[in-house]
Amino acid sequence: MFTKQTIRDIDVHGKVVLLRADYNVPIEKGKITDDYRIKQSLPTIEYLLGRGAKLIICSHLGRPTGPNDTANSLFPVAKRLKELLKRDVEFVPDCVGDRAEKAAAKLQNGEVLLLENLRFHAEEEKNDEAFAKQLASLADVFVQDGFGVVHRAHASTEGVTHFLPSVAGLLLEKEVDTITNVMHKPDRPLAAIIGGAKIADKIDILHRFIELADFVAIGGAMANTFLVAEGIDVAQSLYDKADLPVAKDILRKARAEAKKRRFIFAIPRDGVVAHKVDKSVPTRIVDWSAHVIADIENYPHRPPTRASHILWQEMILDIGPFSGSFIAGGVQLANTVVWNGTMGVTETDGLQGPVGPYAHGTELVIEALLGQFGHKPFTVVGGGDTVGYIENRGLVPYFGHVSTGGGASLELMAGRKLPGVEALQDKK
Ligand code: 3PG
Ligand code: MG
Repeated sequence: MFTKQTIRDIDVHGKVVLLRADYNVPIEKGKITDDYRIKQSLPTIEYLLGRGAKLIICSHLGRPTGPNDTANSLFPVAKRLKELLKRDVEFVPDCVGDRAEKAAAKLQNGEVLLLENLRFHAEEEKNDEAFAKQLASLADVFVQDGFGVVHRAHASTEGVTHFLPSVAGLLLEKEVDTITNVMHKPDRPLAAIIGGAKIADKIDILHRFIELADFVAIGGAMANTFLVAEGIDVAQSLYDKADLPVAKDILRKARAEAKKRRFIFAIPRDGVVAHKVDKSVPTRIVDWSAHVIADIENYPHRPPTRASHILWQEMILDIGPFSGSFIAGGVQLANTVVWNGTMGVTETDGLQGPVGPYAHGTELVIEALLGQFGHKPFTVVGGGDTVGYIENRGLVPYFGHVSTGGGASLELMAGRKLPGVEALQDKK
């Protein structure tokens, strides 16, 4: 349950509303390559404008080095927002000071401003009080709707709430509600599929899911660290040496849990390898544990040793078909699945069609999640790369909840308090 006041609880007619959004979107050569976060901010904007608010939107973008870091300007976002809203959006080249104050003073009911990147001022990330006060002075009410950034205690997420009545937007409410429900009273069985590059980012949720879920499967480069912990030679594969003790600890905990109750913790048993991340370089499957595919392919001869060994110059770039099928089976038995992190290097395109050479594992998991094998569980998807992938494949509408948060959704799932949510007014 969401315990904070929202825009539904206040009257915004004729008021200047400062709306914090998370428009930290990927931009390449001035072009937005994924506008999911912008699209998801529209219901709150439309709600506020429909009720006669004067709207000032602020956000950060990237991690700029100073005020003139033009590659991190929010200008392209203003353009995109204008197209999506089908209304004029005035872009203000600073988030505080003269220009912001003048633009704010001229605002009429139903009009929209987008302020330049908050992080062009170092005070934003320092949660500087004077800066927060300056920002707050532009408006009558503060609305937090940038779910992706509420795990940060910055001037525009925490500081500002000391100076204005502060409530949640509709996206923030939906995100927090859906994710906390899944963590507190999931429709069981609950499965978690965790991938991506680094264990370090996911230690807390791995622990939480080992306590909470019925099935946990690991993929992506972080699986390599678990494989090394299990004594498998991963050759050139990316893995975190420093995280080996963490991986061993997690494996120990998972095994102990499996002794106590029906619980499955799966790490890959086969993988797709190549000697280079390059779409024109041949791939092969290495079946280091199950020995199924090569045995079948070579019968009546013995499979060559390399069928179960990663050669010294090779690296694992995806989970193999056996592992993908195993995860798909787990998904078939689940009623709720949390998915965060792709199973392989999905950003490399394919020579034929949209699916790259190391995306087959992720594709198989997606098929299972979307009910291609018969049963479709409720799905919660998070993580920038994962969401970017399903966005590019046009599959977002077929998932249950696709989160706009990366770090924020992981912290919420891990049970941490989010400073940007805590700071808002409680429901009466
Ligand atoms: C994100 O993309 O995770 C959020 O916008 C937060 O950005 P940050 O990690 O730079 O604080
Ligand atoms: Mg981030």
